[in-house]
Amino acid sequence: MIEFTDVVKTYNIGNQALRGVSLQIEDGEFAFLVGPSGSGKSTIIKLITGELKPTSGSVHVNGYSLERIRKKEIPYLRRTVGVVFQDFRLIDNMTVYENVAFAMRVIGASEKEIRERVPYVLELVGLENKSSRHPGELSGGEQQRLAIARALVNNPSTIIADEPTGNLDPARSLEIMTLLQEINNLGTTLLVVTHEMDLVQRFAKRVIAIDEGLVISDGMDGYSV
Ligand SMILES: Nc1ncnc2c1ncn2[C@@H]1O[C@H](COP(=O)(O)OP(=O)(O)O)[C@@H](O)[C@H]1O
Ligand SMILES: [Mg+2]
Repeated sequence: MIEFTDVVKTYNIGNQALRGVSLQIEDGEFAFLVGPSGSGKSTIIKLITGELKPTSGSVHVNGYSLERIRKKEIPYLRRTVGVVFQDFRLIDNMTVYENVAFAMRVIGASEKEIRERVPYVLELVGLENKSSRHPGELSGGEQQRLAIARALVNNPSTIIADEPTGNLDPARSLEIMTLLQEINNLGTTLLVVTHEMDLVQRFAKRVIAIDEGLVISDGMDGYSV
């Protein structure tokens, strides 16, 4: 579960990015996080992954209290949260297979576990026939599917995606959103940041809208200001 209670985040230059955000995302939910550029969406993501600490208020993620988490606990928190970025962040000199396997090696998985798990997640995202290619040989949509496979491989309970379709054309964007929805249907909690409202409207999902660091609406009935 993800729970924000009265979260304020002020960057050191005095810029108040979040001005008192409270929200709760239950295990298994799918929620969109929408809002204009600069409204605080990425700040919320960075608070969930432990990259930032709240200035005040509390952030609870999958059993960890982020306002008082110890540095050595952060890798354990991050195993519970897979992250997908707009710019994919793949390793260009590794194959598709190795990009995914590497995420397992980092946490000390055995070669046997890697041999079993990597083909499974590559098939889930539809890249089973591209496992020996390099990221530069893939289309943008395929690169994002690879990034999703990597985020999934250690079986996190939650996937956070920060503008995952920002670099993709509309057809590819729809494919990626559909894949994220399928992953949610398999039981993973999904929080997807986007400002593509036409895409959001195609999926009947919870929409949390923020503006200027505050939640301005939250519900299943779409986004209206
Ligand atoms: N590292 C930083 N230092 C100072 N200000 C920042 C930093 N990151 C973000 N901000 C500011 O915080 C506000 C929210 O930013 P962000 O969370 O990135 O918004 P969004 O993802 O919705 O575009 C903006 O005013 C932005 O300029
Ligand atoms: Mg952002």
